[in-house]
Amino acid sequence: MNEYATAITCSLLNYGAGMSNKLGVKYLNFTIRDINQYDIPFLWEMLYQAMYVPEGQKPFPREIVLEPFLAKYVNGWGRAGDIGLIAKYNNQPVGAVWLRLFDEANKGFGYVDDTTPELSIAVVEDYRGQGIGSALMREIEDRARAYGYQKLCLSVDPRNPARRLYERYGYIHVGWCDTSWTMKKDLV
Ligand SMILES: CC(C)(COP(=O)(O)OP(=O)(O)OC[C@H]1O[C@@H](n2cnc3c(N)ncnc32)[C@H](O)[C@@H]1OP(=O)(O)O)[C@@H](O)C(=O)NCCC(=O)NCCS
Repeated sequence: MNEYATAITCSLLNYGAGMSNKLGVKYLNFTIRDINQYDIPFLWEMLYQAMYVPEGQKPFPREIVLEPFLAKYVNGWGRAGDIGLIAKYNNQPVGAVWLRLFDEANKGFGYVDDTTPELSIAVVEDYRGQGIGSALMREIEDRARAYGYQKLCLSVDPRNPARRLYERYGYIHVGWCDTSWTMKKDLV
């Protein structure tokens, strides 16, 4: 457990009033808390879920997350600079957002510099589009600021609807990594 131990309760009444979901529930109450070591298997799953699959394309094999270019987002979780949050509904994890630093010699897809952590996020499919991702984005920014980070970066395929979420949260397109956008947000 790190210094951000307080669990906060969020209500979708604040984030997505009026939406319905595949579970037939109109509003969800979910909690957000810090990632701990027991969440690491879920984090691997969220890493897999975070990969964008364009329409009509086959899903990636699950083992892909073990490839070094992806595994580095989770491997050895808990090192200096790592910050992560889990959203829970009915005591089950339903989403995660996490920040990790990379460096020039070992860049992430969204790398901008050695002091800017890269953000990764995913929500379990049945729970998407109901405000959980927005709440995670908001909360992780507060954690990042409190930690002393000045900027955040990320990588997104411009066709991914997640791009709209990032733009809403003030991320701007600053470059490309292959076919993906690198986006950055100043926190100060
Ligand atoms: C992106 C994601 C974390 C957002 O969480 P969420 O709880 O669905 O988000 P919210 O309900 O708070 O906000 C809705 C926004 O999320 C994004 N979103 C919603 N469903 C999505 C989906 N199936 N895939 C990608 N983004 C989605 C859109 O930007 C949407 O905004 P819009 O209503 O203007 O289209 C979640 O949808 C997800 O896990 N998507 C698949 C994984 C992914 O694309 N991760 C990002 C990789 S860069």
